[in-house]
Amino acid sequence: MKNKILDMTTLDKTLLKELDAYINLLDGDKGEHLIHVLHKAQELFGYLPQNLQLYVARKLDLSGARVNGVVTFYSFFNEEPVGKYKISVCMGTACFVKGADKVLERVESLTKTKKNEISEDGLFTIKDVRCIGACGLAPVMTVNDKVYGKVKPNDVDEIIRYYRGLEDENN
Ligand code: FES
Repeated sequence: MKNKILDMTTLDKTLLKELDAYINLLDGDKGEHLIHVLHKAQELFGYLPQNLQLYVARKLDLSGARVNGVVTFYSFFNEEPVGKYKISVCMGTACFVKGADKVLERVESLTKTKKNEISEDGLFTIKDVRCIGACGLAPVMTVNDKVYGKVKPNDVDEIIRYYRGLEDENN
């Protein structure tokens, strides 16, 4: 975490209260629950800006660097705002040799979004990630927690259509 003063007063008070309530229910050494607390914080706030990471660090009596190390290590944590559906395409070796770059291209083209950006409708964020440990299913992409294996560029059309369809159902 960069060494700068982080303003925690800009964080939504109601959401912080909810996070505090969650932390207060934890047993034992609260620092051991760091990953769960970060999941909860991300669920509430949508992502984990650095001032929120520092808030969590203080609450759990951990260093800001320790919390930031965990946030940056796991690809399911986001330090920046993300779309409702986070699409991650694995660019690890096994996936790359099986055409992950073509899958990523297809995702970018269908969502009209470049990697590390949010689509104009706010639905999709595109990321390329390191090996997610499912090499047997290469090439692999995920949408939020759902894993898609042996993905061909043409399969991407159906996957994107599915998530767009969910939105239409909800509206
Ligand atoms: S290289 Fe993609 S899951 Fe391992």
